[in-house]
Amino acid sequence: MNKVTLIATAAMGLEGIVGQELRDLGYENVRVENSRAIFEATPADIPRVNLWLRSADRVKLLVGKFHAYSFDELFEATKALPWENFISEDGEFPVVGKSKKSKLYSVPDCQAIVKKAIVERMKQKYGIASRLEEKGAFYRVEVAIDKDEAWLTIDTSGAGLHKRGYRVGQGDAPLKETLAAALVQITNWRGDAPFIDLFCGSGTIPIEAALIGQNIAPGFNREFASENWSFITDKQWEKAFEEAEDKANYDQPINITGTDIDPKMIEISKANAMEAGLGELIPFKQMQARDFKPMEKGGYLVSNPPYGERIGDKKEVEQTYRQLGGVMKDFPTWSVYLLTAHPQFEKVYGTEATKKRKLFNGFIETTYYQFFGKKE
Ligand SMILES: C[S@@+](CC[C@H](N)C(=O)[O-])C[C@H]1O[C@@H](n2cnc3c(N)ncnc32)[C@H](O)[C@@H]1O
Repeated sequence: MNKVTLIATAAMGLEGIVGQELRDLGYENVRVENSRAIFEATPADIPRVNLWLRSADRVKLLVGKFHAYSFDELFEATKALPWENFISEDGEFPVVGKSKKSKLYSVPDCQAIVKKAIVERMKQKYGIASRLEEKGAFYRVEVAIDKDEAWLTIDTSGAGLHKRGYRVGQGDAPLKETLAAALVQITNWRGDAPFIDLFCGSGTIPIEAALIGQNIAPGFNREFASENWSFITDKQWEKAFEEAEDKANYDQPINITGTDIDPKMIEISKANAMEAGLGELIPFKQMQARDFKPMEKGGYLVSNPPYGERIGDKKEVEQTYRQLGGVMKDFPTWSVYLLTAHPQFEKVYGTEATKKRKLFNGFIETTYYQFFGKKE
């Protein structure tokens, strides 16, 4: 088996960034669709993309897709797919499902049929008469039906890719690591200029920026479901981890700072950065956002401030936005990137954004306001 089709799934609005990440990793003909980027690869690429993708939720292997209007069709088409190429004889393979705008709408029935079809195929191909043991490696199969088209996939990631393995502590409203990485990648910051998050909370944005700045693979600190699969060799995994080690540029000087009004969050940020293997590379300090006074020119401020959604918080948050807008007027060479759900943000902040982009922070619809700094 030389070729596989992989699907990198993403939060709505981040699929284009994931597509670009894949092109930067050297993949061609990447097709970007709603909430996913699809590309052709080899089994050896499964370790690579799991290790390197920064903004994707997970990587799924497409076993096959077809139209199905009846349970019979679903059963036969599933059984015709080469499951034995991927799932080992003793593999454990629960089936999850979803269905939308389709004749086959009963998800539990679809899951049961897909399970039965795979079991029959495996028994035939492996020559097993009794029950399948299912005591080996883990393969989460998904049947996703949309407008009567069924996509059958196996999840290669395990825990979602936002779980980098460094978050030992968090605050009330932590940003997903995948979204934080996207916020950094949307800016023009390329690792050399000063970078600060004035509302750093548990440090997610500064930590993701440091990983990007030093070209550290975000998945180097965790495990993946496909690490135990037999069609990907141990050698291929070793090679991917070695490549990540070789490409990391730990000597690249970076100038990233994280500050927050809450001293507890500063302690949490420090612990998370330590766990991420960054040691004390990022200075984290307690500070009010309005006291920011950059010493250098041409820096980047990237933050996820509070949104003021809870009753009583709104006035305070608006004052913070107003003060920050006033402060940043004095530093026109700085580029400012702020993610918020506040509906009148620009009015309160006092400046019109150069560019805006709608992004989802979990289920909250937010806007990423981008104010480009003046070139000297
Ligand atoms: C939405 S959270 C940021 C979460 C962060 N991105 C993370 O991933 O953990 C907002 C943070 O802003 C901080 N904050 C609120 N008002 C502030 C102010 N005036 N100056 C500095 N920080 C402030 C809060 O303590 C909180 O940690």
